[in-house]
Amino acid sequence: MALMYFNNIDFYRNLLSSAYKDDEKEDAALAVQIENETLDTMICARIRPLSEEEKEEHHIPGILSNSSSKAVLYEPRQKFNGKPDSVKHGFSLHRVFDTDMQTESVYQEAAQKLVPWAWTGGVSTLFAYGQTGSGKTFTVTGITNLLIKDIMAIAEAEHRAIYVCCFEIFGKKAYDLLDDRRMFNIMEDSFGKMQLIGVQEKHPASEEEFLSIIQTSASLRTSAQTTKNDQSSRSHAVYRIRIVNKKNSEAQDGELFLVDLAGSEGSQDSSKHSAERLVETKDINTSLSILKDCIRNRTIWGLQQLDSSETAKKSIHIPWRSSKLTQVLKHVFGTQEDRVCKTVVIACVAPSIVDSGHSKNTLRYAEMLKVPVPKMKRPKDALVPSNWTNEKMKLWIRENSGTPAIDADILAGKLSGMQLCKMPQKDFISRCLQTTGVEKDQATAFYQKLWRVRIDSRQQSTTFTAGDKSETMQRPSRPKTARPLNTTPFQQRIKPGMCISMGKRSYGALFVVVMSPFGPEDFDGVGDERRFICAVFGPSMMTDAYELHIERQETFIVKDMEGEAFMEYDSATRYYYLDL
Ligand SMILES: Nc1ncnc2c1ncn2[C@@H]1O[C@H](COP(=O)(O)OP(=O)(O)OP(=O)(O)O)[C@@H](O)[C@H]1O
Ligand SMILES: [Mg+2]
Repeated sequence: MALMYFNNIDFYRNLLSSAYKDDEKEDAALAVQIENETLDTMICARIRPLSEEEKEEHHIPGILSNSSSKAVLYEPRQKFNGKPDSVKHGFSLHRVFDTDMQTESVYQEAAQKLVPWAWTGGVSTLFAYGQTGSGKTFTVTGITNLLIKDIMAIAEAEHRAIYVCCFEIFGKKAYDLLDDRRMFNIMEDSFGKMQLIGVQEKHPASEEEFLSIIQTSASLRTSAQTTKNDQSSRSHAVYRIRIVNKKNSEAQDGELFLVDLAGSEGSQDSSKHSAERLVETKDINTSLSILKDCIRNRTIWGLQQLDSSETAKKSIHIPWRSSKLTQVLKHVFGTQEDRVCKTVVIACVAPSIVDSGHSKNTLRYAEMLKVPVPKMKRPKDALVPSNWTNEKMKLWIRENSGTPAIDADILAGKLSGMQLCKMPQKDFISRCLQTTGVEKDQATAFYQKLWRVRIDSRQQSTTFTAGDKSETMQRPSRPKTARPLNTTPFQQRIKPGMCISMGKRSYGALFVVVMSPFGPEDFDGVGDERRFICAVFGPSMMTDAYELHIERQETFIVKDMEGEAFMEYDSATRYYYLDL
Protein backbone atom coordinates (compact mmCIF):
# COMPACT_ATOMS: atom_id res chain seq x y z
CA MET A 1 0.00 0.00 0.00
CA ALA A 2 2.81 2.38 0.96
CA LEU A 3 4.66 1.53 -2.25
CA MET A 4 1.52 2.11 -4.32
CA TYR A 5 1.18 5.55 -2.75
CA PHE A 6 4.80 6.59 -3.07
CA ASN A 7 4.92 5.49 -6.72
CA ASN A 8 1.80 7.53 -7.50
CA ILE A 9 1.97 10.49 -5.12
CA ASP A 10 0.48 12.97 -7.61
CA PHE A 11 -2.51 10.77 -8.36
CA TYR A 12 -3.38 10.45 -4.66
CA ARG A 13 -2.74 14.14 -3.94
CA ASN A 14 -5.24 15.13 -6.63
CA LEU A 15 -7.74 12.56 -5.48
CA LEU A 16 -7.59 13.66 -1.86
CA SER A 17 -7.62 17.39 -2.58
CA SER A 18 -10.88 17.03 -4.54
CA ALA A 19 -12.24 14.85 -1.77
CA TYR A 20 -11.57 17.64 0.75
CA LYS A 21 -13.70 19.99 -1.35
CA ASP A 22 -16.56 17.50 -1.74
CA ASP A 23 -16.79 16.55 1.90
CA GLU A 24 -17.98 19.75 3.45
CA LYS A 25 -18.04 19.75 7.20
CA GLU A 26 -21.39 19.57 8.91
CA ASP A 27 -21.41 21.21 12.27
CA ALA A 28 -23.59 18.99 14.33
CA ALA A 29 -21.22 18.58 17.26
CA LEU A 30 -23.66 19.88 19.86
CA ALA A 31 -26.50 17.58 18.83
CA VAL A 32 -24.17 14.58 18.87
CA GLN A 33 -22.83 15.57 22.27
CA ILE A 34 -26.29 15.75 23.84
CA GLU A 35 -27.26 12.41 22.34
CA ASN A 36 -24.05 10.82 23.63
CA GLU A 37 -24.60 11.98 27.22
CA THR A 38 -26.91 9.05 27.88
CA LEU A 39 -24.80 6.27 26.39
CA ASP A 40 -23.42 3.52 28.60
CA THR A 41 -20.82 2.63 26.00
CA MET A 42 -19.52 5.43 23.83
CA ILE A 43 -17.34 4.61 20.85
CA CYS A 44 -15.18 7.41 19.49
CA ALA A 45 -12.30 7.78 17.11
CA ARG A 46 -9.48 10.30 17.32
CA ILE A 47 -7.39 11.10 14.28
CA ARG A 48 -4.00 12.49 15.21
CA PRO A 49 -2.38 15.17 13.01
CA LEU A 50 0.39 14.24 10.60
CA SER A 51 3.73 14.31 12.40
CA GLU A 52 6.62 16.48 11.17
CA GLU A 53 8.42 13.34 10.07
CA GLU A 54 5.43 12.16 8.05
CA LYS A 55 5.12 15.59 6.42
CA GLU A 56 8.81 15.51 5.51
CA GLU A 57 8.27 12.13 3.91
CA HIS A 58 5.40 13.59 1.82
CA HIS A 59 2.61 11.62 3.46
CA ILE A 60 -0.89 13.01 2.95
CA PRO A 61 -3.95 12.41 5.14
CA GLY A 62 -6.04 9.47 3.97
CA ILE A 63 -8.89 10.03 6.45
CA LEU A 64 -11.33 12.90 6.36
CA SER A 65 -13.91 13.56 8.97
CA ASN A 66 -16.78 15.45 7.40
CA SER A 67 -19.04 15.49 10.43
CA SER A 68 -18.89 15.06 14.19
CA SER A 69 -19.61 11.37 13.98
CA LYS A 70 -18.43 10.24 10.56
CA ALA A 71 -15.14 9.55 8.86
CA VAL A 72 -14.21 8.66 5.29
CA LEU A 73 -11.05 6.70 4.58
CA TYR A 74 -9.27 6.36 1.22
CA GLU A 75 -7.29 3.18 0.74
CA PRO A 76 -4.74 3.00 -2.11
CA ARG A 77 -5.33 0.08 -4.47
CA GLN A 78 -3.96 -1.13 -7.74
CA LYS A 79 -6.11 -1.77 -10.79
CA PHE A 80 -5.67 -4.93 -12.87
CA ASN A 81 -3.75 -2.92 -15.44
CA GLY A 82 -1.31 -1.74 -12.75
CA LYS A 83 -2.75 1.80 -12.56
CA PRO A 84 -3.38 3.41 -9.15
CA ASP A 85 -6.82 3.31 -7.72
CA SER A 86 -8.48 3.84 -4.35
CA VAL A 87 -11.36 2.48 -2.36
CA LYS A 88 -13.46 4.78 -0.21
CA HIS A 89 -14.75 3.47 3.14
CA GLY A 90 -17.25 5.32 5.32
CA PHE A 91 -17.50 4.93 9.10
CA SER A 92 -20.09 6.16 11.53
CA LEU A 93 -19.34 6.26 15.27
CA HIS A 94 -20.72 8.12 18.27
CA ARG A 95 -18.07 10.78 17.87
CA VAL A 96 -15.11 11.36 15.59
CA PHE A 97 -12.45 13.79 16.80
CA ASP A 98 -10.65 15.23 13.81
CA THR A 99 -6.98 16.23 13.71
CA ASP A 100 -7.66 19.78 14.87
CA MET A 101 -9.47 18.75 18.05
CA GLN A 102 -7.54 19.28 21.26
CA THR A 103 -7.45 16.75 24.10
CA GLU A 104 -9.60 19.18 26.16
CA SER A 105 -12.45 18.67 23.69
CA VAL A 106 -12.03 14.90 23.72
CA TYR A 107 -12.17 15.01 27.49
CA GLN A 108 -15.21 17.27 27.68
CA GLU A 109 -17.25 15.43 25.09
CA ALA A 110 -16.32 11.84 25.85
CA ALA A 111 -14.48 11.23 29.09
CA GLN A 112 -15.75 13.83 31.54
CA LYS A 113 -19.07 12.05 32.07
CA LEU A 114 -17.17 9.09 33.56
CA VAL A 115 -16.34 11.18 36.63
CA PRO A 116 -19.85 11.78 38.07
CA TRP A 117 -20.65 8.13 37.41
CA ALA A 118 -17.71 6.90 39.49
CA TRP A 119 -18.29 9.70 42.02
CA THR A 120 -21.63 8.15 42.95
CA GLY A 121 -20.32 4.60 43.30
CA GLY A 122 -20.33 3.43 39.69
CA VAL A 123 -17.57 1.84 37.65
CA SER A 124 -16.23 3.78 34.67
CA THR A 125 -13.67 2.68 32.15
CA LEU A 126 -11.86 4.44 29.36
CA PHE A 127 -9.57 2.68 26.98
CA ALA A 128 -7.72 3.67 23.88
CA TYR A 129 -6.72 1.18 21.24
CA GLY A 130 -5.18 1.37 17.80
CA GLN A 131 -2.05 0.90 15.79
CA THR A 132 1.35 1.73 17.27
CA GLY A 133 2.04 5.47 17.02
CA SER A 134 -1.61 6.41 16.58
CA GLY A 135 -1.85 8.58 19.71
CA LYS A 136 -3.18 6.31 22.49
CA THR A 137 -0.65 7.33 25.15
CA PHE A 138 -0.95 10.98 24.10
CA THR A 139 -4.75 10.80 24.46
CA VAL A 140 -4.95 8.76 27.69
CA THR A 141 -2.25 10.83 29.38
CA GLY A 142 -3.96 14.08 28.41
CA ILE A 143 -7.35 12.85 29.58
CA THR A 144 -5.90 11.49 32.84
CA ASN A 145 -4.34 14.86 33.65
CA LEU A 146 -7.59 16.73 33.00
CA LEU A 147 -9.58 14.20 34.97
CA ILE A 148 -7.22 14.48 37.95
CA LYS A 149 -7.69 18.24 37.91
CA ASP A 150 -11.49 17.84 38.00
CA ILE A 151 -11.46 15.18 40.71
CA MET A 152 -9.02 16.88 43.05
CA ALA A 153 -10.81 20.22 42.75
CA ILE A 154 -13.90 18.86 44.48
CA ALA A 155 -12.67 15.83 46.47
CA GLU A 156 -12.17 17.68 49.75
CA ALA A 157 -15.42 19.65 49.62
CA GLU A 158 -17.46 16.58 48.71
CA HIS A 159 -15.87 14.36 51.38
CA ARG A 160 -14.26 11.94 49.00
CA ALA A 161 -10.98 10.12 49.61
CA ILE A 162 -9.09 9.31 46.42
CA TYR A 163 -6.85 6.28 46.01
CA VAL A 164 -4.89 5.35 42.93
CA CYS A 165 -2.95 2.35 41.75
CA CYS A 166 -0.98 2.14 38.52
CA PHE A 167 0.20 -1.05 36.94
CA GLU A 168 1.23 -2.49 33.63
CA ILE A 169 0.42 -5.77 32.02
CA PHE A 170 3.38 -7.04 30.10
CA GLY A 171 2.88 -10.36 28.41
CA LYS A 172 1.12 -12.63 30.87
CA LYS A 173 2.38 -10.78 33.94
CA ALA A 174 1.26 -7.72 35.86
CA TYR A 175 3.71 -5.25 37.43
CA ASP A 176 3.04 -2.61 40.04
CA LEU A 177 4.27 0.74 38.71
CA LEU A 178 4.00 2.31 42.17
CA ASP A 179 6.15 -0.37 43.77
CA ASP A 180 9.21 -0.49 41.58
CA ARG A 181 7.60 -2.82 39.04
CA ARG A 182 7.04 -5.57 41.58
CA MET A 183 5.11 -8.45 40.05
CA PHE A 184 1.66 -9.10 41.52
CA ASN A 185 -1.26 -11.41 41.02
CA ILE A 186 -4.78 -10.73 39.81
CA MET A 187 -7.40 -13.07 41.25
CA GLU A 188 -11.14 -13.39 41.37
CA ASP A 189 -12.74 -13.37 44.82
CA SER A 190 -15.74 -15.45 45.85
CA PHE A 191 -18.08 -12.64 44.73
CA GLY A 192 -16.67 -12.65 41.23
CA LYS A 193 -14.80 -9.36 41.66
CA MET A 194 -11.24 -9.18 40.41
CA GLN A 195 -8.74 -8.37 43.14
CA LEU A 196 -5.27 -6.94 42.59
CA ILE A 197 -3.36 -8.87 45.23
CA GLY A 198 -0.87 -6.73 47.13
CA VAL A 199 -0.85 -3.84 44.69
CA GLN A 200 0.17 -0.48 46.20
CA GLU A 201 -2.50 2.18 46.44
CA LYS A 202 -1.46 5.80 46.95
CA HIS A 203 -3.69 8.39 48.55
CA PRO A 204 -2.81 11.69 46.86
CA ALA A 205 -3.73 14.75 48.89
CA SER A 206 -3.37 17.29 46.10
CA GLU A 207 -3.55 17.61 42.33
CA GLU A 208 0.24 18.04 42.16
CA GLU A 209 0.86 14.89 44.16
CA PHE A 210 -1.56 12.94 41.99
CA LEU A 211 0.07 14.16 38.75
CA SER A 212 3.51 13.30 40.03
CA ILE A 213 2.34 9.76 40.91
CA ILE A 214 1.07 9.32 37.34
CA GLN A 215 4.29 10.73 35.87
CA THR A 216 6.47 8.44 37.98
CA SER A 217 4.48 5.40 36.99
CA ALA A 218 4.55 6.40 33.29
CA SER A 219 8.34 6.66 33.42
CA LEU A 220 8.58 3.08 34.73
CA ARG A 221 6.49 1.71 31.90
CA THR A 222 8.08 -0.60 29.38
CA SER A 223 8.66 1.14 26.08
CA ALA A 224 10.71 0.55 22.95
CA GLN A 225 11.13 1.84 19.44
CA THR A 226 8.84 0.60 16.70
CA THR A 227 8.82 1.54 13.02
CA LYS A 228 5.95 3.92 13.77
CA ASN A 229 6.84 5.25 17.22
CA ASP A 230 10.18 5.97 18.92
CA GLN A 231 8.60 5.78 22.36
CA SER A 232 6.17 2.95 21.82
CA SER A 233 4.41 1.51 24.87
CA ARG A 234 5.09 -2.19 24.86
CA SER A 235 2.72 -2.94 27.73
CA HIS A 236 -0.88 -2.19 28.63
CA ALA A 237 -0.99 0.47 31.35
CA VAL A 238 -3.92 0.62 33.75
CA TYR A 239 -4.65 3.40 36.23
CA ARG A 240 -7.36 2.60 38.74
CA ILE A 241 -8.78 5.50 40.69
CA ARG A 242 -10.91 4.52 43.68
CA ILE A 243 -13.30 7.09 45.09
CA VAL A 244 -14.39 6.53 48.68
CA ASN A 245 -17.35 8.42 50.11
CA LYS A 246 -16.15 9.42 53.59
CA LYS A 247 -19.56 10.69 54.66
CA ASN A 248 -21.51 7.55 53.87
CA SER A 249 -19.76 4.38 54.94
CA GLU A 250 -22.49 2.28 53.31
CA ALA A 251 -21.90 3.74 49.85
CA GLN A 252 -20.02 1.60 47.38
CA ASP A 253 -16.61 2.85 46.30
CA GLY A 254 -16.60 4.34 42.83
CA GLU A 255 -13.94 3.10 40.44
CA LEU A 256 -12.43 4.69 37.36
CA PHE A 257 -10.18 2.66 35.10
CA LEU A 258 -8.02 4.40 32.52
CA VAL A 259 -6.35 2.00 30.14
CA ASP A 260 -3.63 2.82 27.63
CA LEU A 261 -3.21 -0.27 25.52
CA ALA A 262 -0.03 -1.35 23.83
CA GLY A 263 -0.18 -0.70 20.09
CA SER A 264 -0.87 -3.41 17.58
CA GLU A 265 1.73 -3.96 14.87
CA GLY A 266 1.26 -5.57 11.49
CA SER A 267 3.60 -8.29 10.22
CA GLN A 268 5.48 -5.88 7.93
CA ASP A 269 5.98 -3.46 10.85
CA SER A 270 7.56 -6.16 13.00
CA SER A 271 9.59 -7.86 10.25
CA LYS A 272 12.88 -6.42 11.58
CA HIS A 273 12.26 -7.36 15.23
CA SER A 274 14.53 -9.60 17.26
CA ALA A 275 13.17 -12.95 18.47
CA GLU A 276 12.43 -11.45 21.89
CA ARG A 277 10.56 -8.51 20.37
CA LEU A 278 8.61 -10.87 18.13
CA VAL A 279 7.40 -12.81 21.19
CA GLU A 280 6.43 -9.50 22.81
CA THR A 281 4.55 -8.40 19.67
CA LYS A 282 2.77 -11.75 19.54
CA ASP A 283 1.77 -11.43 23.22
CA ILE A 284 0.42 -7.93 22.62
CA ASN A 285 -1.52 -8.95 19.52
CA THR A 286 -2.92 -12.02 21.33
CA SER A 287 -4.13 -10.03 24.31
CA LEU A 288 -5.67 -7.39 22.03
CA SER A 289 -7.42 -10.07 20.05
CA ILE A 290 -8.82 -11.62 23.28
CA LEU A 291 -9.98 -8.14 24.30
CA LYS A 292 -11.78 -7.80 20.97
CA ASP A 293 -13.35 -11.25 21.34
CA CYS A 294 -14.60 -10.32 24.80
CA ILE A 295 -16.14 -7.06 23.64
CA ARG A 296 -17.69 -8.67 20.59
CA ASN A 297 -19.13 -11.63 22.48
CA ARG A 298 -20.43 -9.37 25.23
CA THR A 299 -22.16 -7.37 22.52
CA ILE A 300 -23.67 -10.49 20.97
CA TRP A 301 -24.76 -11.70 24.40
CA GLY A 302 -26.38 -8.36 25.07
CA LEU A 303 -28.24 -8.44 21.78
CA GLN A 304 -29.48 -11.95 22.50
CA GLN A 305 -31.06 -10.77 25.72
CA LEU A 306 -33.29 -8.52 23.65
CA ASP A 307 -34.65 -11.51 21.80
CA SER A 308 -37.50 -12.88 23.83
CA SER A 309 -37.41 -16.36 22.29
CA GLU A 310 -35.30 -18.70 24.39
CA THR A 311 -34.59 -20.88 21.35
CA ALA A 312 -32.76 -18.06 19.59
CA LYS A 313 -30.32 -17.83 22.49
CA LYS A 314 -27.05 -19.67 22.09
CA SER A 315 -24.56 -19.98 24.84
CA ILE A 316 -21.97 -17.25 24.35
CA HIS A 317 -18.51 -17.66 25.77
CA ILE A 318 -16.81 -14.45 26.81
CA PRO A 319 -13.14 -15.45 27.15
CA TRP A 320 -12.22 -12.84 29.76
CA ARG A 321 -10.19 -15.37 31.76
CA SER A 322 -7.84 -15.87 28.80
CA SER A 323 -5.63 -12.85 29.42
CA LYS A 324 -4.54 -10.72 32.37
CA LEU A 325 -5.82 -7.62 30.59
CA THR A 326 -9.36 -8.92 30.20
CA GLN A 327 -9.33 -10.26 33.78
CA VAL A 328 -8.68 -6.72 35.00
CA LEU A 329 -11.42 -5.38 32.72
CA LYS A 330 -13.89 -8.12 33.60
CA HIS A 331 -16.42 -5.56 34.83
CA VAL A 332 -16.73 -4.32 31.25
CA PHE A 333 -17.73 -7.70 29.81
CA GLY A 334 -19.15 -9.66 32.75
CA THR A 335 -22.75 -10.75 32.29
CA GLN A 336 -23.28 -11.17 36.02
CA GLU A 337 -21.93 -7.84 37.21
CA ASP A 338 -23.74 -6.09 40.04
CA ARG A 339 -22.94 -2.64 38.75
CA VAL A 340 -23.36 -1.10 35.35
CA CYS A 341 -20.11 0.07 33.85
CA LYS A 342 -19.92 3.21 31.77
CA THR A 343 -17.32 2.72 29.09
CA VAL A 344 -15.65 5.06 26.64
CA VAL A 345 -13.61 3.49 23.86
CA ILE A 346 -11.29 5.72 21.86
CA ALA A 347 -10.09 4.22 18.59
CA CYS A 348 -6.90 6.09 17.77
CA VAL A 349 -5.90 6.34 14.15
CA ALA A 350 -2.87 7.64 12.32
CA PRO A 351 -3.93 9.99 9.52
CA SER A 352 -1.48 9.04 6.79
CA ILE A 353 -2.80 7.37 3.67
CA VAL A 354 0.12 4.96 4.10
CA ASP A 355 -1.54 3.66 7.28
CA SER A 356 -5.00 3.29 5.69
CA GLY A 357 -5.05 -0.50 6.01
CA HIS A 358 -4.43 -0.39 9.75
CA SER A 359 -6.77 2.56 10.26
CA LYS A 360 -9.51 0.78 8.33
CA ASN A 361 -9.27 -2.22 10.68
CA THR A 362 -9.31 0.01 13.75
CA LEU A 363 -12.36 1.96 12.56
CA ARG A 364 -14.21 -1.13 11.36
CA TYR A 365 -13.84 -2.67 14.76
CA ALA A 366 -14.95 0.53 16.46
CA GLU A 367 -18.02 0.65 14.24
CA MET A 368 -18.90 -2.91 15.17
CA LEU A 369 -18.78 -1.99 18.87
CA LYS A 370 -21.22 0.83 18.29
CA VAL A 371 -24.23 -1.48 18.23
CA PRO A 372 -26.40 -0.74 21.27
CA VAL A 373 -25.28 -3.02 24.06
CA PRO A 374 -28.11 -3.79 26.43
CA LYS A 375 -26.91 -3.49 29.96
CA MET A 376 -28.12 -5.24 33.03
CA LYS A 377 -29.68 -2.87 35.51
CA ARG A 378 -29.35 -4.99 38.59
CA PRO A 379 -28.70 -2.12 40.99
CA LYS A 380 -32.28 -0.98 40.45
CA ASP A 381 -33.73 -4.45 40.73
CA ALA A 382 -35.79 -4.34 43.91
CA LEU A 383 -35.88 -8.12 44.15
CA VAL A 384 -32.15 -8.54 44.69
CA PRO A 385 -31.25 -8.33 48.41
CA SER A 386 -27.80 -6.97 47.66
CA ASN A 387 -29.55 -3.86 46.28
CA TRP A 388 -31.65 -3.31 49.40
CA THR A 389 -31.17 -0.33 51.63
CA ASN A 390 -30.52 -0.78 55.31
CA GLU A 391 -34.20 -0.05 56.15
CA LYS A 392 -35.50 -2.55 53.63
CA MET A 393 -33.10 -5.23 54.82
CA LYS A 394 -34.14 -4.67 58.46
CA LEU A 395 -37.81 -4.93 57.57
CA TRP A 396 -37.18 -8.16 55.74
CA ILE A 397 -35.22 -9.58 58.71
CA ARG A 398 -38.05 -8.75 61.11
CA GLU A 399 -40.64 -10.42 58.88
CA ASN A 400 -38.68 -13.47 57.77
CA SER A 401 -36.38 -14.56 60.56
CA GLY A 402 -38.87 -16.80 62.38
CA THR A 403 -39.79 -16.88 66.06
CA PRO A 404 -38.38 -15.21 68.00
CA ALA A 405 -37.64 -12.62 65.31
CA ILE A 406 -33.93 -11.89 64.99
CA ASP A 407 -33.08 -8.39 66.19
CA ALA A 408 -32.59 -6.50 62.91
CA ASP A 409 -30.64 -3.68 64.60
CA ILE A 410 -28.08 -6.11 65.97
CA LEU A 411 -27.81 -8.13 62.77
CA ALA A 412 -27.86 -5.40 60.15
CA GLY A 413 -26.85 -2.33 62.19
CA LYS A 414 -26.13 0.29 59.56
CA LEU A 415 -25.20 -2.20 56.87
CA SER A 416 -26.65 -2.09 53.38
CA GLY A 417 -28.08 -5.16 51.70
CA MET A 418 -24.82 -5.59 49.80
CA GLN A 419 -22.73 -5.45 52.97
CA LEU A 420 -24.92 -7.93 54.83
CA CYS A 421 -24.87 -10.32 51.88
CA LYS A 422 -21.07 -10.17 51.90
CA MET A 423 -20.84 -10.90 55.64
CA PRO A 424 -19.10 -14.23 56.35
CA GLN A 425 -21.43 -16.95 57.65
CA LYS A 426 -19.66 -17.12 61.03
CA ASP A 427 -20.15 -13.42 61.73
CA PHE A 428 -23.72 -13.50 60.46
CA ILE A 429 -24.66 -16.37 62.77
CA SER A 430 -22.87 -14.92 65.78
CA ARG A 431 -24.79 -11.64 65.32
CA CYS A 432 -28.08 -13.59 65.11
CA LEU A 433 -27.24 -15.42 68.34
CA GLN A 434 -27.08 -12.12 70.18
CA THR A 435 -30.92 -12.00 70.08
CA THR A 436 -32.30 -13.65 73.22
CA GLY A 437 -33.93 -17.01 72.48
CA VAL A 438 -32.36 -17.50 69.03
CA GLU A 439 -30.61 -20.87 68.67
CA LYS A 440 -27.88 -21.84 66.22
CA ASP A 441 -30.30 -23.88 64.03
CA GLN A 442 -32.58 -20.89 63.54
CA ALA A 443 -29.61 -18.62 62.78
CA THR A 444 -28.16 -21.08 60.24
CA ALA A 445 -31.54 -21.60 58.57
CA PHE A 446 -32.02 -17.84 58.32
CA TYR A 447 -28.58 -17.38 56.78
CA GLN A 448 -29.45 -20.00 54.18
CA LYS A 449 -32.81 -18.34 53.54
CA LEU A 450 -31.13 -15.05 52.70
CA TRP A 451 -28.84 -16.83 50.25
CA ARG A 452 -31.76 -18.64 48.68
CA VAL A 453 -33.61 -15.33 48.18
CA ARG A 454 -30.46 -13.86 46.65
CA ILE A 455 -30.12 -16.66 44.18
CA ASP A 456 -33.82 -16.86 43.31
CA SER A 457 -34.03 -13.12 42.78
CA ARG A 458 -31.07 -13.19 40.41
CA GLN A 459 -32.65 -15.93 38.37
CA GLN A 460 -36.16 -14.53 38.31
CA SER A 461 -35.86 -10.89 37.56
CA THR A 462 -33.32 -9.10 35.47
CA THR A 463 -33.91 -5.81 33.72
CA PHE A 464 -32.10 -4.82 30.60
CA THR A 465 -31.92 -1.62 28.67
CA ALA A 466 -30.78 -1.27 25.15
CA GLY A 467 -28.97 1.84 23.96
CA ASP A 468 -32.02 3.99 24.47
CA LYS A 469 -32.65 4.28 28.18
CA SER A 470 -36.39 4.29 27.88
CA GLU A 471 -36.42 0.88 26.29
CA THR A 472 -36.47 -1.55 29.18
CA MET A 473 -37.59 -5.06 29.06
CA GLN A 474 -38.04 -7.94 31.40
CA ARG A 475 -36.11 -11.08 30.64
CA PRO A 476 -38.68 -13.81 30.18
CA SER A 477 -38.30 -16.29 32.98
CA ARG A 478 -37.88 -19.77 31.69
CA PRO A 479 -41.03 -21.79 32.37
CA LYS A 480 -40.29 -24.61 34.77
CA THR A 481 -41.36 -27.52 32.67
CA ALA A 482 -41.63 -30.89 34.32
CA ARG A 483 -38.69 -33.10 33.45
CA PRO A 484 -39.94 -35.86 31.12
CA LEU A 485 -40.17 -39.17 32.91
CA ASN A 486 -37.64 -41.60 31.51
CA THR A 487 -38.71 -45.19 31.92
CA THR A 488 -35.31 -46.71 31.07
CA PRO A 489 -33.43 -47.50 34.32
CA PHE A 490 -30.71 -44.92 34.91
CA GLN A 491 -28.03 -47.67 35.00
CA GLN A 492 -28.63 -48.25 31.30
CA ARG A 493 -28.50 -44.58 30.44
CA ILE A 494 -25.19 -43.71 32.11
CA LYS A 495 -23.06 -41.48 29.90
CA PRO A 496 -20.46 -38.73 30.38
CA GLY A 497 -21.95 -35.62 31.93
CA MET A 498 -24.67 -37.44 33.85
CA CYS A 499 -24.90 -36.60 37.56
CA ILE A 500 -25.27 -39.54 39.92
CA SER A 501 -26.26 -39.78 43.55
CA MET A 502 -24.02 -42.20 45.44
CA GLY A 503 -26.17 -42.20 48.58
CA LYS A 504 -25.45 -41.02 52.10
CA ARG A 505 -21.96 -40.89 53.55
CA SER A 506 -20.94 -39.95 57.09
CA TYR A 507 -20.47 -36.29 56.02
CA GLY A 508 -23.66 -36.11 53.95
CA ALA A 509 -24.87 -37.13 50.49
CA LEU A 510 -22.29 -37.84 47.81
CA PHE A 511 -22.87 -36.74 44.21
CA VAL A 512 -20.61 -37.31 41.24
CA VAL A 513 -20.55 -36.48 37.56
CA VAL A 514 -19.62 -39.19 35.06
CA MET A 515 -16.46 -38.38 33.09
CA SER A 516 -15.85 -41.59 31.09
CA PRO A 517 -16.14 -45.39 31.23
CA PHE A 518 -13.15 -46.92 33.07
CA GLY A 519 -12.10 -49.45 30.42
CA PRO A 520 -13.15 -50.72 26.97
CA GLU A 521 -15.37 -53.39 28.57
CA ASP A 522 -17.36 -50.63 30.30
CA PHE A 523 -18.37 -48.81 27.12
CA ASP A 524 -21.33 -50.99 26.18
CA GLY A 525 -23.55 -53.24 28.10
CA VAL A 526 -25.92 -52.95 30.94
CA GLY A 527 -24.21 -54.88 33.71
CA ASP A 528 -24.00 -53.70 37.32
CA GLU A 529 -20.26 -54.39 37.37
CA ARG A 530 -19.40 -51.64 34.88
CA ARG A 531 -17.10 -48.95 36.22
CA PHE A 532 -17.00 -45.23 35.47
CA ILE A 533 -14.47 -42.53 36.22
CA CYS A 534 -16.38 -39.73 37.92
CA ALA A 535 -15.56 -36.26 39.27
CA VAL A 536 -16.83 -35.57 42.76
CA PHE A 537 -19.09 -32.78 43.97
CA GLY A 538 -17.93 -31.38 47.31
CA PRO A 539 -20.23 -29.72 49.84
CA SER A 540 -20.41 -25.94 49.98
CA MET A 541 -21.38 -23.62 52.81
CA MET A 542 -25.06 -23.97 51.88
CA THR A 543 -27.51 -26.82 51.98
CA ASP A 544 -28.15 -28.43 48.60
CA ALA A 545 -25.36 -26.42 46.99
CA TYR A 546 -22.20 -28.14 45.77
CA GLU A 547 -18.85 -27.34 44.25
CA LEU A 548 -17.64 -29.55 41.42
CA HIS A 549 -14.05 -30.76 41.91
CA ILE A 550 -13.02 -31.80 38.42
CA GLU A 551 -9.55 -32.62 39.77
CA ARG A 552 -10.94 -35.14 42.29
CA GLN A 553 -11.74 -38.16 40.15
CA GLU A 554 -12.61 -41.61 41.43
CA THR A 555 -13.84 -44.84 39.88
CA PHE A 556 -17.32 -45.98 40.87
CA ILE A 557 -19.10 -49.22 40.14
CA VAL A 558 -22.67 -49.12 38.82
CA LYS A 559 -24.13 -51.30 41.55
CA ASP A 560 -23.05 -48.73 44.16
CA MET A 561 -24.88 -45.94 42.39
CA GLU A 562 -28.17 -44.86 43.91
CA GLY A 563 -29.82 -42.93 41.07
CA GLU A 564 -29.60 -40.07 38.64
CA ALA A 565 -29.30 -36.64 40.23
CA PHE A 566 -30.16 -33.32 38.65
CA MET A 567 -27.78 -30.50 39.31
CA GLU A 568 -28.33 -26.96 38.15
CA TYR A 569 -25.39 -24.58 37.83
CA ASP A 570 -25.89 -21.06 39.10
CA SER A 571 -23.37 -18.68 37.62
CA ALA A 572 -24.13 -15.98 40.21
CA THR A 573 -22.81 -18.06 43.10
CA ARG A 574 -20.84 -20.51 40.96
CA TYR A 575 -22.33 -23.44 42.85
CA TYR A 576 -24.33 -26.42 41.65
CA TYR A 577 -27.74 -26.81 43.21
CA LEU A 578 -29.54 -30.07 43.69
CA ASP A 579 -32.69 -29.76 41.65
CA LEU A 580 -35.28 -31.72 43.59
N1 LIG B 1 -3.51 14.42 18.82
C1 LIG B 1 -2.18 14.57 18.75
N2 LIG B 1 -1.65 15.79 18.55
C2 LIG B 1 -0.32 15.96 18.46
N3 LIG B 1 0.59 14.94 18.55
C3 LIG B 1 0.12 13.72 18.76
C4 LIG B 1 -1.30 13.45 18.87
N4 LIG B 1 -1.47 12.14 19.07
C5 LIG B 1 -0.23 11.61 19.09
N5 LIG B 1 0.72 12.55 18.90
C6 LIG B 1 2.17 12.29 18.84
O1 LIG B 1 2.37 11.13 18.09
C7 LIG B 1 3.40 10.32 18.65
C8 LIG B 1 2.89 8.91 18.95
O2 LIG B 1 1.86 9.00 19.92
P1 LIG B 1 1.68 7.95 21.10
O3 LIG B 1 2.97 7.62 21.76
O4 LIG B 1 0.60 8.47 21.96
O5 LIG B 1 1.21 6.69 20.27
P2 LIG B 1 0.66 5.30 20.83
O6 LIG B 1 -0.60 5.02 20.11
O7 LIG B 1 0.63 5.31 22.29
O8 LIG B 1 1.76 4.30 20.28
P3 LIG B 1 2.23 2.90 20.91
O9 LIG B 1 1.15 1.94 20.69
O10 LIG B 1 3.43 2.58 20.07
O11 LIG B 1 2.55 3.14 22.33
C9 LIG B 1 3.87 11.04 19.88
O12 LIG B 1 5.02 11.75 19.58
C10 LIG B 1 2.74 11.98 20.21
O13 LIG B 1 3.20 13.16 20.86
MG1 LIG C 1 1.59 4.25 23.75
